Amino acid sequence: MENLRRVDPEVYGLVRSELQRQREGLELIPSENFASLAVMEAQGSVFTNKYSEGYPFKRYYGGNQFVDEVETLAIERAKKIFRAEHANVQPHAGSQANMAAYFALLSPGDKVMGLNLSHGGHLTHGASVNFSGKTYRFVAYNVDAKTHLLDFDAIERQAREEKPALIVCGFTAYPRQVDFKRFREVADCCGAKLMVDMAHIAGLIAGGAHPHPFPYADVVTSTTHKTLRGPRGAIILCKSEYAAAIDKAVFPGLQGGPLDHAIAAKAVCFREAMQPEFSRYAHEVVENAKALAESLMEEGLTLISGGTDTHLMLVDLTALGITGKEAQLALDEANITVNKNTIPFDKQPPFITSGIRLGTPAITTRGMGKSQMKQIGQMIAKICRYPSDRELQKKVRGEVLEMTERFPLYPELG
Ligand SMILES: Cc1ncc(COP(=O)(O)O)c(C=O)c1O
Repeated sequence: MENLRRVDPEVYGLVRSELQRQREGLELIPSENFASLAVMEAQGSVFTNKYSEGYPFKRYYGGNQFVDEVETLAIERAKKIFRAEHANVQPHAGSQANMAAYFALLSPGDKVMGLNLSHGGHLTHGASVNFSGKTYRFVAYNVDAKTHLLDFDAIERQAREEKPALIVCGFTAYPRQVDFKRFREVADCCGAKLMVDMAHIAGLIAGGAHPHPFPYADVVTSTTHKTLRGPRGAIILCKSEYAAAIDKAVFPGLQGGPLDHAIAAKAVCFREAMQPEFSRYAHEVVENAKALAESLMEEGLTLISGGTDTHLMLVDLTALGITGKEAQLALDEANITVNKNTIPFDKQPPFITSGIRLGTPAITTRGMGKSQMKQIGQMIAKICRYPSDRELQKKVRGEVLEMTERFPLYPELG
C-alpha cells in the first residue's frame, strides 16, 4: 500500500489500525469474515473505473468487453453453485437485493409474511422503520415460545388465515437449519410465492453444510460477504420465470451502474466457493459453532433453542443479570467482538437487549478449531459472569492476544 501511504497518510494509518484490530481480536460477529487477498485484489482493481449500466452484451456504454466477460463468469458460477436457473450479480448489498426481489414479486400494499425481527428476522423482512414495513403489509410469524424453534403447524395456520402474496424465510439470528421444503408446502397452501434470504447461510449451502433452497424457492437473495467470504455485496437467484422481472427491478428499477470491481470480486469468491477446501471450511464452521455452543453450555450459559446447527448461536443472558449491551462492552475490553442481539420475547429494547449473537465464520477462516472453541467459550462465560472486573478483562485480553498470534491473519500484508 505504498501509494496510499504516500498520498493519504491519515487513511493509510486507519487501514493499518483496522488491520491490527482484526489481527488482535476474536471476531465472533456471525455476519463477518475475512475475504481472501485474491478477492480483495479483484475488488481493488481497475474495474472500479468502468461504467456499465445494463447487463452483459446489452449495455448503455461502450468499452464493456471485459466487464461483460467478468459479469458472465460471476453469473455462471453463481448459478452452478446454488443450482439456480437465473442469477443477477449486481445488487450493491443485501438490503438492495431484498428490495429488488420485493419490487419484482409484489405491488405496494401486498401482504407478506416474515419472521419477527426480535425472533431472528432481518430489518428488510418487515420492520416498521424499514422500507419493507413501510411499503408492504408485513405480518410477522414467531418462533415457539418454549422451544424457540419455528413451529410449522402454527405458521401454516397463520398463512391460511392471512393469505400473503409472499412468504420470506432465511434469517439473521436463527441458529437452526431452515426447512425450505416445509416452507414451500406452507406457501403452496395459501398460493404465496416463496423467497429465501440466505444471506447468512450462503457459504454453508455452497459448501454442502446446509440444504439448498432450490428447487423449493421462487427467488433467493443473498449477501456475498458473510459465510460466503466474498466482497461486500449481494446477488439474486431465481427461477427462469422471474428472471426478466428481477433484472428489471435491479436495473433500471433500483440501481444505476453496477459496481464492476465488486462483481469481479464476487466471481473470485464463487470460484473459491467451488473448491474442495471451501466445503471443508463450511463444515468446520458448523463443527466449531457446535463446539463453542457446547463450551458455553458447560459453563452454565443458556442458548436459545439449546444450541446450533449452523454458524451462529444466541446466548440468553437473563439468568446472569446482565444485558446484551453490557456483555458486548465487557467483551470488547478483552478483544472479543460480538454483537448484542434481542432474543425471542425479549423484554429489553433493541439497543439494550438480553442476548448476544456469536458466530464462527471468521475465526474458522483463521484456522481455529475445537480446542480454541472450548477456551473461547470459557473466556466469554468468565467475562459475562463478572462484567465489571477490569483485571479479569485485562487477563483475558492477554489470553486472546496469545491465541490470535498463533493464527496469523493476512501475514502477507506485513
Ligand atoms: C438475512 C439478512 N438479509 C439481508 C441483510 C442485509 O445485508 P446488507 O447489510 O448487505 O444490506 C442481512 C444483513 O445482516 C441479513 O442478515
